[in-house]
Amino acid sequence: MSDILVTENIQGASMNRLMNDLDVELDAYLWQNVNLLQKKIQNAKALIVRNQTQVNRELIDAAPHLKIIARAGVGLDNVDTHYAHEKGIIVCYTPDANSLSVAELTIGLMLALLRKIPEARQDTLTGGWNRVKFTGSELYGKTFGLIGMGRIGTLTATRAHAFGMKIIAADPYLAFDAPQLKQMNGKLVSQDELLSQADVISCHSPLTPHTKRLLTYQHFCRMKPTAFFINTSRGEVIDEKGLTQALLEHKLAGAALDVRETEPPKHSPLNQMENVILTPHIAAFTLEAQDRVVDSVCEDVRLVLSGKKAINVFEP
Ligand code: MLT
Repeated sequence: MSDILVTENIQGASMNRLMNDLDVELDAYLWQNVNLLQKKIQNAKALIVRNQTQVNRELIDAAPHLKIIARAGVGLDNVDTHYAHEKGIIVCYTPDANSLSVAELTIGLMLALLRKIPEARQDTLTGGWNRVKFTGSELYGKTFGLIGMGRIGTLTATRAHAFGMKIIAADPYLAFDAPQLKQMNGKLVSQDELLSQADVISCHSPLTPHTKRLLTYQHFCRMKPTAFFINTSRGEVIDEKGLTQALLEHKLAGAALDVRETEPPKHSPLNQMENVILTPHIAAFTLEAQDRVVDSVCEDVRLVLSGKKAINVFEP
């Protein structure tokens, strides 16, 4: 039983240093074995997780000595932050460490969708040379609609704007004259307007009780039949079955999903669709972002365990 428990695959130079200096147990698969995790956490003072460990009431109650929960990432939907707060446990996260990587993957997925890159690759590998079949569309002049215009949404919009896209955003926390919108001549619109006007829609909403299933079949049916949908936020922000149905009925032109309702996902009809790109929640997985994320959580754990104030504290 160690002071610091790491329950998912979190590696890097700072983690190696932490393991040299302090009493750390790293088991990349521990999140899958809830009973064992509940036993191992009994003496732990620090818990380091990504997004798969469910840090719920039961787990927190099993950890009477816990001082800090450090989330290597930005989404806190797997941590009961209110209960942790109530119990006096500090919750740390890495609010801006991977935003750029997520924004870049979103742009990559958008280009891949509009230029049919995965389908063209597959066809070429099987002997094809079908140039006309893989005629795509330019980003230039298209309307890019962002659902959620926080840090990641803004970085993504800036990059899309650089391609000559028109920016529209729906976000209940954004003012119509917000500087980040003004900078790129962007417009704040309602979600319904965004759905019917955008050529590419990208979701950048955190998962909260208010955003769960924010987009259902009916919403996807309001999109242009030529439009594309991208989700690099959280799978549960959309109704995946509703999206699948809308795609089968050609209500939209295609989709790219980096995040799924269940991760890893069960078999899905989406797997067979040529106009769908599926990736395994890799938006934050770049060498640079992972270094920043791991440095940040290791630093905060060291600070808290030595009686100092953590840097990236989340206040629920
Ligand atoms: C995040 O929330 O930071 C990213 O989605 C990556 C992750 O969940 O680990």
